[in-house]
Amino acid sequence: MQKTAIYPGSFDPVTNGHVDIVERGLKIFDGIIVAILRNPVKKALFTVEERKEMIEISLNKHSNVEVDIFDGLLVDYARKRNAGTIVRGMRAVSDFESEFQLALMNRKLNREVQTVFLMTGLRWIFTSSSIIKEAASFGGDISSMVSPIVDRKLKEKFGFISS
Ligand code: PNS
Repeated sequence: MQKTAIYPGSFDPVTNGHVDIVERGLKIFDGIIVAILRNPVKKALFTVEERKEMIEISLNKHSNVEVDIFDGLLVDYARKRNAGTIVRGMRAVSDFESEFQLALMNRKLNREVQTVFLMTGLRWIFTSSSIIKEAASFGGDISSMVSPIVDRKLKEKFGFISS
């Protein structure tokens, strides 16, 4: 039986830390669905379509990775996709509390879906989409933390190069 896991998030934008988690997940699961939340409440820098394209390009060497967009409850989406596992990346201890809360709420909502935490590579421990956006907005060099497509799109977004 094929085991597929869902890796959900905002991915605004995808970082090398996210890519690292997907690649670790592929050592455990047959396939990973990277699921971007369409969240009308949270203000994002990139549209979900732009985010989807950047993830697809960043992970295009893996044929067993699918990128999708979802809305509503994550556990409902997992059920719809026949996936019994949610993967979340864990960086520093500071991630623990909110991740624990999210996992326990998801378990309350659907006991059939398990959450699995994967530890990110040490070099990505302080990498986050928000800090990358902030550095990029002031022209900081973030090219070692994101894939070339994301580096280019950030430079375009903040007006450092033209599209
Ligand atoms: O990258 P993020 O912003 O930390 O990802 C958070 C995400 C998208 C995984 C989480 O907010 C989510 O799953 N939202 C969908 C609604 C839902 O099911 N929430 C949890 C139970 S209330």
